[in-house]
Amino acid sequence: MPRNARRLRTRTLVTLATAATCVAAVASVPAQAGDSPTYTNPNASVSHRVKDLLKRMTLDEKIGQMDQISVVRMQGDCEWSGGAFTESCMKDVLVDNAAGSVISGGGAGPAVNTPENWAAMVNAVQKYAVDNSRLHIPVLYGVDAVHGHNNVLGATVFPQEIGMGSTWDPGLVGAAGAATARAVAATGIDWNFAPVADIARDQRWGRYYETYGEDPLLSGTLASAAVKGVQGAHGAKSVAATVKHFAGYGEPGNGHDRVPGDVSMRYLQDTLLPSYKQAVDAGAMSVMVNSGAINGVPATASHYLLTDVLRKQWGFTGVVVSDWQDVRALQTSYHVAADYPEAIAKAVNAGLDMAMEPYDAQGFTDGLKAAVQRHLVSVKRIDQSVARILTMKFELGLFEHPYVDASKADARVIGADTALARRAADESQVLLRNEGGVLPIGPSVKKIVVAGSYADDIDDQAGGWTVGWQGVPDGVTLPGTTVLEGIREAAPAGTSVIRATSAADAAAEAGDADLTVVVVGEKAAAEGTADSPRPELSADQQALVKALKATGKPVVTVVLAGRPLVLGDADGTQGLLMSWLPGSEGGHAVADVLFGTVNPSGRLSASWPRHTGDEPMYYQQLPGTNAGPESSYDAAYRFGAGLSYTGYSFDSVTARDTTVRGRDAVSLAVGVSNTGDRAGDLVVPVYVAQPSSDVLAPPAKLVAFTRVHLDAGEHAAVTLTVPPGLLAVTPGDIDGSGPRTVAPGTYTFTAGTPGAEGAPTATVAVR
Ligand code: BGC
Ligand code: BGC
Repeated sequence: MPRNARRLRTRTLVTLATAATCVAAVASVPAQAGDSPTYTNPNASVSHRVKDLLKRMTLDEKIGQMDQISVVRMQGDCEWSGGAFTESCMKDVLVDNAAGSVISGGGAGPAVNTPENWAAMVNAVQKYAVDNSRLHIPVLYGVDAVHGHNNVLGATVFPQEIGMGSTWDPGLVGAAGAATARAVAATGIDWNFAPVADIARDQRWGRYYETYGEDPLLSGTLASAAVKGVQGAHGAKSVAATVKHFAGYGEPGNGHDRVPGDVSMRYLQDTLLPSYKQAVDAGAMSVMVNSGAINGVPATASHYLLTDVLRKQWGFTGVVVSDWQDVRALQTSYHVAADYPEAIAKAVNAGLDMAMEPYDAQGFTDGLKAAVQRHLVSVKRIDQSVARILTMKFELGLFEHPYVDASKADARVIGADTALARRAADESQVLLRNEGGVLPIGPSVKKIVVAGSYADDIDDQAGGWTVGWQGVPDGVTLPGTTVLEGIREAAPAGTSVIRATSAADAAAEAGDADLTVVVVGEKAAAEGTADSPRPELSADQQALVKALKATGKPVVTVVLAGRPLVLGDADGTQGLLMSWLPGSEGGHAVADVLFGTVNPSGRLSASWPRHTGDEPMYYQQLPGTNAGPESSYDAAYRFGAGLSYTGYSFDSVTARDTTVRGRDAVSLAVGVSNTGDRAGDLVVPVYVAQPSSDVLAPPAKLVAFTRVHLDAGEHAAVTLTVPPGLLAVTPGDIDGSGPRTVAPGTYTFTAGTPGAEGAPTATVAVR
């Protein structure tokens, strides 16, 4: 089915307000008298339980465990129809095909979208599987809770990952992960397909906003914080995190989602793999495979990625799940398999444990069975995957606690953690221009005009993957605060806030206003639909801002978007605030910064292209022989940019040891000061450069960072450690694939903005 058609059907789903979820009434099969198998004993070790269960399973049951099916296959007429469960469809998926996992992809929720109904829906699936499967094996239920429990109406919507990237705050990202896991668990779900650890450098790519940005260390650090947050939330029920999309999904060749990419081994090893590794090392229980192809091989069929790197080099022991329909895609899209059995065999032999099928349970059962009969896959290999999947189920406590109390879900989810979401949105605001101190809005401002359609659009403010796959579906009201509402709430008595709804109206009102806030942005979308060959502000929005500038009155531009947009005619307003896609608390956060209740602390985790066509744009651009701005890094706003209402200075960098061995960490002390009259949080980044190196080195590479709170006038010395691995690169000629090593030589560490006048540096010799 074409992706568009599927999208339309998703929308129908949400509006199909039919009967509430019905639990099929099927008597549970009693355990056989006298037999109390080890796998049912909660006191036995997980490995014993897995071994015991595995030896009781038939080949068909094992195959089923490796299959993940969409919940919609069990509803209505077993097609994509949503609504109430149908017993015969449940039997087909959960008993006849013994599917080990169920997914609500991109918003496939209950007919009436409430947390309680989600919990009841998941419980119903779980109960059917536990009661009716021969060995009473619970399913793993998966969902994309990528910015809060975003599919569930009423759940708190956090900023999208790109905004979280601009916080440079692992503690906050961890807390948001834990909050998300609590909401996910309250609806009975055990598996979260987050975080995204992809590196995004091409602003045209539709999934740019789902990443933490362009830098390997920043992305890896935040992704690992998210993993720990999601998996560490202790409650009655645990939730597994997923590191996705392994590996190199952020490198589509032409900027379009899922288009094959070609990357050198050096780039793969030094730039793309490290962020996934950091998140895997944080203990992620699962990894999802890149839907695309790298260097002529679909990731789903790559033994190199899924086994050599992930298992052998990194020691990952968890579950590897494919992305949406990607095993079949080996046959139907990539043509590297002649039929489905061959496709399944390729993926499984590469190292895949579970296929996100997600529509054809019978097809998968038949396909893998045929692959076994044709000796394409061994039962031993199947046992290995099934053992990993069962291990995950036991570790999550599913056999002991397969259900949640649905009646508590609403109270646990609706409005939970809004203060945290507001803090996240606050910290993600990046102030990029503040000419003449136009911000924060002072007491002399008596009339504020709020212009731009995005000022009052909660759906686009939340972005894709919110309630629905492509964003909030028509007819659904997302709870939250828009920028207009936030400004109205925050404006002091005596200040009038005028909403201008047309460009003409805005310009007319701006004439006698003290300030105009114009909110621009882009439409919510997801995956390929969000690709943008010209990532720039639309012509009508540029014209609106141009007209406002022409009034001569101060203008502050607020951008609600999932990527930096070339501003064109809209460039050059006195104020510029990048708000990203800040979620349900976004309106409060924007107002917090505009009125100065919050001192902005966000720093760009992504470079802002100056011209359309500059993409991909990223700060780690390698040096070349053309020195002009067009051929080197010349961002409108560089990676790490961001202003505050106080002043900061980076005063010094001192290396504890000026000579180290390649296997040693480098320890640095950075002196920083708050030179202004307001307290604030400062992001302290340290970059490395090599005056001379064997292979090209970028003029700056982030190797350490932290955030510090500094009172007005305060000075602090911050200690940062650069682990040796961060200096390692792939040596050798163009074909480089050898192990990464730290080359001896001189390394220069800069704190603050690399290349900026007066930025302090320290030099360390690596022997
Ligand atoms: C996306 C994944 C997501 C999956 C399930 C896929 O299309 O690429 O990120 O986890 O769908 O919804
Ligand atoms: C998405 C899923 C989504 C589905 C909607 C897929 O491509 O990845 O998450 O539910 O399409 O039709």
